Amino acid sequence: MAWRRTAVHRRGQRPVTSGGIVIVPMRRRHLKSVVAIEQQVFPTPWSLSLYLSELTMGGTRAYFVAITGNEVVGYAGLMLAVGEGHVTTIGVSPRWQRHGIGRRLLLELAETARKRGAEDLTLEVRVANTGAQALYHDFGFAPAGIRKNYYAEVHEDALIMWAHDIQSDDYKRRLEIVAAEALGSGDLAAPDDAPVDETSDAPGEGT
Ligand SMILES: CC(C)(COP(=O)(O)OP(=O)(O)OC[C@H]1O[C@@H](n2cnc3c(N)ncnc32)[C@H](O)[C@@H]1OP(=O)(O)O)[C@@H](O)C(=O)NCCC(=O)NCCS
Repeated sequence: MAWRRTAVHRRGQRPVTSGGIVIVPMRRRHLKSVVAIEQQVFPTPWSLSLYLSELTMGGTRAYFVAITGNEVVGYAGLMLAVGEGHVTTIGVSPRWQRHGIGRRLLLELAETARKRGAEDLTLEVRVANTGAQALYHDFGFAPAGIRKNYYAEVHEDALIMWAHDIQSDDYKRRLEIVAAEALGSGDLAAPDDAPVDETSDAPGEGT
């Protein structure tokens, strides 16, 4: 992703609800949980202060969290500039991966990018991160080049991916198909070891 470090490899206002998951704008009160997930899925996690800074740039940013019950289980972000949307980050709690949450989050980013006038979407992903690449492929992202040693801390190259013409009817239809799959999957039963989170976190509220 843009400025995204490599992932540790292991297996607006409108809340989108399905199977007990809601996608809502990221707020300051989510950041403790977001950073906790960051620390599990990325070797060089973004800090709380970096997320705080991102949240102050609402005009060119869009960040979302996925919540089930009171637990933040994933998050994703988008940077918007001159007609393009750049996926800056996406992460799902390890115990919640492969439950369709990444797909839901990326859907929210793609819909937001369309609403905010972007023509194209781009991101960087570690060359070896084939799981994430499979997810991006479903959203029309195709490889467009390599950034050598982009993830210098682990000496890995980044694959640059683009999804073009996201305002087109074809892309709209693609998102509708992904949304139908995502919202109809119902594959969101809590993992066996899901913890009980006592923190209060009603989706869709302000900071
Ligand atoms: C990448 C990531 C965000 C995906 O989130 P997720 O909630 O697990 O993904 P989903 O369950 O929505 O997967 C949707 C589709 O993407 C593909 N996919 C996702 N993870 C995959 C994996 N590990 N291996 C193969 N395919 C994968 C599959 O096609 C999957 O559909 P399926 O489960 O019906 O086969 C998550 O694995 C993660 O947080 N990884 C660590 C951080 C990271 O790598 N971020 C991306 C940095 S560029």
